[in-house]
Amino acid sequence: MFPHLESVPQKQLESTGDGRVEDDNVEQLKGYRKKWDGVYSNDLDIEWHCSFEQVRDLLEPYLQQATVDAGTEGEGHGKVLLDVGCGSSSFAEEIMRIGGYASRFQEVVLTDISSVILERLKSNWCERQSAADAARRFVVCDCRNFVEKEVPEGSVDVVIDKGTLDAMDSEADKAATFRECVRSLRRAPAPEGSSSTACFVSISFPAVARLHFLQAMAAAAEFHDLIESPHIHVVGDKDPAYGGRVVFVSIFQVKHGRPGRESVNQASPGTSQCPVPYCPSALTTTVLARAQKSQSIINEPDDEDDANIMGALFDE
Ligand SMILES: C[S@@+](CC[C@H](N)C(=O)[O-])C[C@H]1O[C@@H](n2cnc3c(N)ncnc32)[C@H](O)[C@@H]1O
Repeated sequence: MFPHLESVPQKQLESTGDGRVEDDNVEQLKGYRKKWDGVYSNDLDIEWHCSFEQVRDLLEPYLQQATVDAGTEGEGHGKVLLDVGCGSSSFAEEIMRIGGYASRFQEVVLTDISSVILERLKSNWCERQSAADAARRFVVCDCRNFVEKEVPEGSVDVVIDKGTLDAMDSEADKAATFRECVRSLRRAPAPEGSSSTACFVSISFPAVARLHFLQAMAAAAEFHDLIESPHIHVVGDKDPAYGGRVVFVSIFQVKHGRPGRESVNQASPGTSQCPVPYCPSALTTTVLARAQKSQSIINEPDDEDDANIMGALFDE
């Protein structure tokens, strides 16, 4: 869809060997923690980008496909939802409650770098817990480097990133976060006979740069045998060229035909088949076509000056 993707520097896509971030990123980790503890320390409760209700119709087929055999599996093989950089969001809770997925997921794992917000979320959310709800686990961790015992490789059926890739300071940190999200996804078919398909849902600002990033990630050698090309949807009230507010909802499905839970870096080719087909809305088609032609979600290519000015508004 975006032919100039090849221009994304390979350095951004490279692993640091075993997929772990390097020690000198510890300073950056402290920086993220300080910044976000600060953001949340004055009782800020905010839902970034959108509520579940606003994207429910779009996400429903993917959530159903990810949990299609929930309840038919043996104990310990229940479905897991992971919210990466959950902040004060109630998105995961809404999936359970409004979406009716409480009985389809065995566990909801909420992670963030800020212990301040996780403590608050824990007390708020636990007050509302009912016996029928999925178990919930609150984990303080760096999204660029999940702790294996907290989020084991290949253990998650639905990963949600809402605004967390947006919050990363560099392309390298975005790439590390993306890698961890994909690593955590349950490979198909797992367990034996499963017909479900795990997915990674990334909700972001409508930055054209994000389209390039996601496409480049999907095409990177370490991922392209594991995940399908993203289904990118533009969701909002109306066309941003006419003042509409939109977000990108990008969904990666695990490829079917995988032999098992092998490491991302050792993946061998599998057959490719997207269980949930791509059905872009008219708004999506219009905005993505414009973005491809003019590198702006607002302006057509001939409005060059305006495109530069307005496009910059959406740069991260
Ligand atoms: C824009 S907010 C989005 C919060 C929430 N997902 C939502 O939709 O309302 C970004 C979140 O990422 C978290 N975050 C930032 N850096 C992080 C890191 N290195 N590891 C994990 N979480 C991080 C922040 O604490 C914050 O909660």
